[in-house]
Amino acid sequence: MTITVAIDGPAASGKGTISKAVAARFGFAHLDTGLLYRAVGAKMLAGVDPTDAAKGLVPEDVVGDHLRTPEVAQAASRVATLHEVRAALVDFQRAFAARAGGAVLDGRDIGTVICPDAQVKLFVTASAEVRAERRFLELDGKGIEVTRQSVLADVKERDRRDSERAVAPLIPADDAIVIDTSTLDIDAAVKHAEDAIRAVLG
Ligand code: DC
Repeated sequence: MTITVAIDGPAASGKGTISKAVAARFGFAHLDTGLLYRAVGAKMLAGVDPTDAAKGLVPEDVVGDHLRTPEVAQAASRVATLHEVRAALVDFQRAFAARAGGAVLDGRDIGTVICPDAQVKLFVTASAEVRAERRFLELDGKGIEVTRQSVLADVKERDRRDSERAVAPLIPADDAIVIDTSTLDIDAAVKHAEDAIRAVLG
């Protein structure tokens, strides 16, 4: 059986948590596509041309805590505006989506560009303030020095860049189910996602 679950949404919306939970629940493989852009962003910060970095990505590039810093997040959002970078990452994502046994991909353009035929499409969102508070607690918990104000500014800047870019902007697919986690707890959000997948599996 090949089933693809596309989960898109802005930073810290809860899409990663939901993706991991449903992948574990149904035994699907999970790809956090943001890590691909973060890996390219980290390489750009190290002086590598972003298109070369995207073409030459290897599995070891997408692991490591260094990919979770605010600087790398901003760099990821910047390289993600480049058509050549996005193009270099398409085949890998589509091959992952088509793997036997089911796949969950989370990102910004999975339901719109990478897997427009995905059987389940979710768009997970929340207010910028709620998302910034979550990201602040996550970064602060890891000992990364940030302020609430700087995290909110970062979140808003990335939202703007990710939504306004010309290629594959962050927008819900027409047929996506929108889950707003501003006031939903994680269990309720995961249940929504599971119900949507069960409806397709029958
Ligand atoms: O999901 P994330 O915060 O790890 O993503 C980091 C950046 O990568 C995000 O600001 C925009 C970019 N991105 C993208 O353009 N398309 C994707 N499918 C995933 C991430």
